[in-house]
Amino acid sequence: MTIKTIILAAGKGSRMKSKLPKVLHKLAGKPMLQWVVEAAKGLNSEIVVVYGHGGEQVKQSLPSFNISWVEQAEQLGTGHAVQQASGGITTDDTVLILYGDVPLINQSTLHKMIDACDEKTMSLLTVDLTEPTGYGRIVRSNGDVEKIVEQKDASDEQLLISEVNTGILALKGALLKNCLSALKNDNAQQEYYLTDVIEMAVNKGIRIDTIQPANEFEVQGVNSSSQLNQLERFQQGLYAEQLMQQGVTLADAARFDLRGDVVQLGTDIFIDCNVIFEGKIKLGSNVNIGANCVITNAVIEDNVSIKANSVLEDCFIGAGSDVGPFARIRPGTKLGSDTKVGNFVEIKKTNLGDGSKVSHLSYIGDAEIGKDVNIGAGTITCNYDGVNKYTTTIEDGAFIGSDTQLVAPVTVGKNATIAAGTTLTKNAAEGVLTLSRAKQMSLKNWKRPSKD
Ligand code: UD1
Ligand code: CA
Repeated sequence: MTIKTIILAAGKGSRMKSKLPKVLHKLAGKPMLQWVVEAAKGLNSEIVVVYGHGGEQVKQSLPSFNISWVEQAEQLGTGHAVQQASGGITTDDTVLILYGDVPLINQSTLHKMIDACDEKTMSLLTVDLTEPTGYGRIVRSNGDVEKIVEQKDASDEQLLISEVNTGILALKGALLKNCLSALKNDNAQQEYYLTDVIEMAVNKGIRIDTIQPANEFEVQGVNSSSQLNQLERFQQGLYAEQLMQQGVTLADAARFDLRGDVVQLGTDIFIDCNVIFEGKIKLGSNVNIGANCVITNAVIEDNVSIKANSVLEDCFIGAGSDVGPFARIRPGTKLGSDTKVGNFVEIKKTNLGDGSKVSHLSYIGDAEIGKDVNIGAGTITCNYDGVNKYTTTIEDGAFIGSDTQLVAPVTVGKNATIAAGTTLTKNAAEGVLTLSRAKQMSLKNWKRPSKD
């Protein structure tokens, strides 16, 4: 049995008031459509996405997924959308219909739907709402589902029904193909309603098995920025809860955001308020992350302290290191063990050896720095001549005095000392003091300018 998932994503989403196609709006760092695609992938299903508005942009947004794309040039209803995708459906397939703007649908719910679906049964995901306005209502007789009526086609009595259609359903390919070809648009909206398939199926003697989601957020669709935010906060609450269940201490679970995955987690981790994680994050044990840090694709080893207001991206922070406050670690940076990168230090594409320190106010880019090097305040690697980038090499045990400019390409030898205020344009020999300053002098007869 092949499972085929059709994801409807052709809608315009005008209530988002945005130029970006609705399904590309992000939830916890990923486009809504990607959430749905990943849920479908988890079922090992073949995926067809029906796209319309913002077509090319939608297609290009998920390049690494193996998806078939079908265009619905005109949006003539959910039934019409499924018709566009029905070409590749065969009789034996189990077809699952999902929506690109219902991002938090859970895999276990979908498993239940697939399991319940056979030649004689179609499964329908429904939910009881205290405020059912706008949704298709589930009409039952003697307890069995008879049909779905849309809000605009419902009688006053039907409008009182609180059980509504989530839109998500599973049925056999044969039944779907059969019903799709018979859909009509003689309704209030003159659309081809997918929901009409239910009554058709019932008339063919098919039983409708209704399944409820574990929570309402799973089936909540996004039509506006405000609804997207409700789901965002729900998902962030889940992430925070998951981390806490694994022993992480969060100063405030409501002020932590994960827009990616924590792929490795040690013990005794403390995360202060307003921390954002993006991409893939690995955290060792005894890690302390201060307030207002934004950390993207980082490996942080044991006993590391990232102090407040630091921004880290695509980097490796070795065990026992101390970063920040106000540090900026840019892509391609690897800090060895027991290093220190202090306040107002920007460091890019640099290897900083074990035990080395850059404690204050420096720019270090394209550098190979050995072990136990001390870089004084205000040191700058002049790595760029306006066209090319060059490497600065600093060997083990070197001491770079404050306010030094290292004009790359340049090498500072082992245990060399560079005097404060040096502009280094040639390699500095190992073990000795190198300086490039004019001799200090005092001009006895010099007078300050004055207004006379
Ligand atoms: C639909 C259901 C309704 C259900 C509700 C749940 C029908 C007729 N009605 O109503 O019973 O309670 O969803 O939210 O199915 N889409 C297309 N092409 C189209 C039309 C829609 O791709 O031509 C996509 C939209 O992008 C959206 C989804 O299908 O992702 C649902 O469409 P929408 O117009 O929101 O349906 P509703 O009227 O809300
Ligand atoms: Ca809708």
